[in-house]
Amino acid sequence: MTGAPQHKHLVFSGMQPTNTLHLGNYLGALKNWVKIQSEMPCLFCVVDMHAVTQDAGYGHPAELAQATREVAAAYIAAGVDVKRNLVFAQSRVPAHAELAWIFNCVARLGWLDRMTQFKEKSGKHKERASVGLYTYPVLMAADILLYKATHVPVGEDQKQHLELARDVAQKFNNDFAAPGFFPLPEPVIAGAGTRVMSLRDGARKMSKSDDSDYSRINLTDDADAIAQKIRKAKTDPEPLPNSEKGLEGRAEAENLVNIYAALADEPRAAVIARFAGRQFSGFKSALAELAVAKLTPIASQMRRLLADPAEIDRVLADGAARAGAMAAPILADVKRLVGFL
Ligand code: TYM
Repeated sequence: MTGAPQHKHLVFSGMQPTNTLHLGNYLGALKNWVKIQSEMPCLFCVVDMHAVTQDAGYGHPAELAQATREVAAAYIAAGVDVKRNLVFAQSRVPAHAELAWIFNCVARLGWLDRMTQFKEKSGKHKERASVGLYTYPVLMAADILLYKATHVPVGEDQKQHLELARDVAQKFNNDFAAPGFFPLPEPVIAGAGTRVMSLRDGARKMSKSDDSDYSRINLTDDADAIAQKIRKAKTDPEPLPNSEKGLEGRAEAENLVNIYAALADEPRAAVIARFAGRQFSGFKSALAELAVAKLTPIASQMRRLLADPAEIDRVLADGAARAGAMAAPILADVKRLVGFL
């Protein structure tokens, strides 16, 4: 018997507080969160336990705490409604870690061995990576399933992790004879910005860890920095094509068109129709203007919020209390199913 209520639709998503957020985080995830929150109840987590799996978050306590507040501020500044939805730090709800342990026993080594992000992040020296980095996708499955979330809005790079979460849910339901106990969470990968690439190299993802700040637009960049980065973005000598097909094999050009379409909330085809045959210099000016108009209000609002850290801490404490209350009956059911007295 299980006692926890199940929401018909419930959203869970999160971001790591390592460095500042960038345009990829915004277009791939955050922008879609703001949309989906009017359709379903949502939990938006700052995943600080994931952040300590790598050097960027591990061993820098003051920076981690500050980055956690900054990410929470970015959620709110981008339009997440903290009255209707929950914003909280993962480490403040210990049930995430408890469920992750049980899921460590559900997931198979072979599943984790296939994870491409671990391979990318651990690089050449796999044996020097933390054990936490290896089991990272298991903690992510726990984040989602702890609330029996049904929808997970993320960028494309998280697709494989979501598949693992579904496998964990299915195997748990099966192994503990609890059909349908955990829902199989759906990835929501939507819009033209699900895979924003580096502004310096169209073959690489825009990322917090890229050494070059010119590779990304940070959510905290001012208007001048945004315009300069777009002006310097790599392109090819050809003008914009007159069909989507004309972007094939032109990764940098395609990336800028995708960014424009995602920021403007327009289909790619409409953007191409408007700019067909134009030189990239003109297109870049239009893109810079659009990016400044969309992003600088978020940066200003973030600055206002961060001027009052006590208020952010209050929002996070309130979110954690509500998340903890939602998680408790589900974790109790899990423990009963597993046989923990
Ligand atoms: P993180 O912190 O790397 O990224 C946060 C979100 O931003 C998206 N994203 C991108 N989207 C498009 N283009 C890019 N270049 C780009 N870079 C990042 C990511 O897909 C993500 O949606 N494992 C997650 C955090 C996490 C999580 C969860 C997410 C932990 N638990 C549970 C959902 C549900 C991560 O590292 O995201």
